[in-house]
Amino acid sequence: QHPVATSVEPSIVNSSVKVLAESTDLKSVPSEFSFVNEPTGSNSDSIPIIDFTLFTSGNPDQMSKVIQELGKACEEWGFFVLVNHGIPETLIQGIIDAAKEFFDLPEDEKQNVSDPIKYGNGSVITTSNQKIFLWKDLLKFPLHPEFHCPVKPPNLREILFEYAERSRSIAKTLLQGLSENLGLEEGYMEEALKLDTSFQLFAANFYPPCPQPDQAIGLPPHTDYGLLTFLIHNGVPGLQIEYNGKWFNTNSPQNAILVNTADQLEIFSNGKYKSGKHRALVNKEATRISIVIANGPAADAIVSPASQLVQRDGRQLYRPMEYKEYMETQHNNRLNGKTNLELLRIIDS
Ligand code: SIN
Ligand code: FE2
Repeated sequence: QHPVATSVEPSIVNSSVKVLAESTDLKSVPSEFSFVNEPTGSNSDSIPIIDFTLFTSGNPDQMSKVIQELGKACEEWGFFVLVNHGIPETLIQGIIDAAKEFFDLPEDEKQNVSDPIKYGNGSVITTSNQKIFLWKDLLKFPLHPEFHCPVKPPNLREILFEYAERSRSIAKTLLQGLSENLGLEEGYMEEALKLDTSFQLFAANFYPPCPQPDQAIGLPPHTDYGLLTFLIHNGVPGLQIEYNGKWFNTNSPQNAILVNTADQLEIFSNGKYKSGKHRALVNKEATRISIVIANGPAADAIVSPASQLVQRDGRQLYRPMEYKEYMETQHNNRLNGKTNLELLRIIDS
């Protein structure tokens, strides 16, 4: 037997954050989690609202109006609240309840998930090159082109399969609208991003109550790496979005889907659409659950600015990169405080 290097003191972050938060004597945030938050945000009631029924109304005037609104939301905010999307409220609530059931399982059962399903706590390297642990537990796995799902809770598989399918179909309609808004030829985007085999990722975030919410973070400021991220939640506030350099609380209705433009869409649109920056704060009182679906290009798609847009703009803003490589680089945390998007940006000299 070889001696194994182990740390002398068992690290507090070996357990899930849920278990840590439930320990009755926890009065302060352990130093591994210590994160200084930027000023808190204010409320905004002006996040664009997009009515999904207008895409399928068959009325050309309504259609061109909503496509324009959609394009504007992606250009100015990188966020919008999608209402009347047709996904039943019971399905949305079902996903959130099932996610809660998963996190309420005994730790060893949660640890039992197998690749590519991932469960655990997480750390990030901050822009000041510091490793910090996040005040959350995470369950994450791919939904498409291969569908995966933990075996417990048993009802998760069926409802998640339906939610994943409906989400892809909605994403497809929104992307068609954006393609038209960009003035691209029909079918170009689908082919360039290989949307038939689009990579779709599920993530459930579980943020337990935190004894010192201003000394920890659920997720530090970041942008997402796909095309369009869909978010639903259990009604506990925490998600903030950045707009014009300021932080704003989101309070999207629980049956709406909060959509944000992600990095691959900023790249593909040659910078016209902006990848929406956001962060997740924690609180003292209640557990927050959010369910995120990252709708992306195919893993093997090489994403670059659409050639027609580069021609039109007279410059190319980003270098191309395979989507799979983009995700891996992001996960390796070896970006020296930069984001992937910044690294791919072509700066005029
Ligand atoms: C995320 O950015 O992936 C999750 C944000 C949230 O929990 O609201
Ligand atoms: Fe995110």
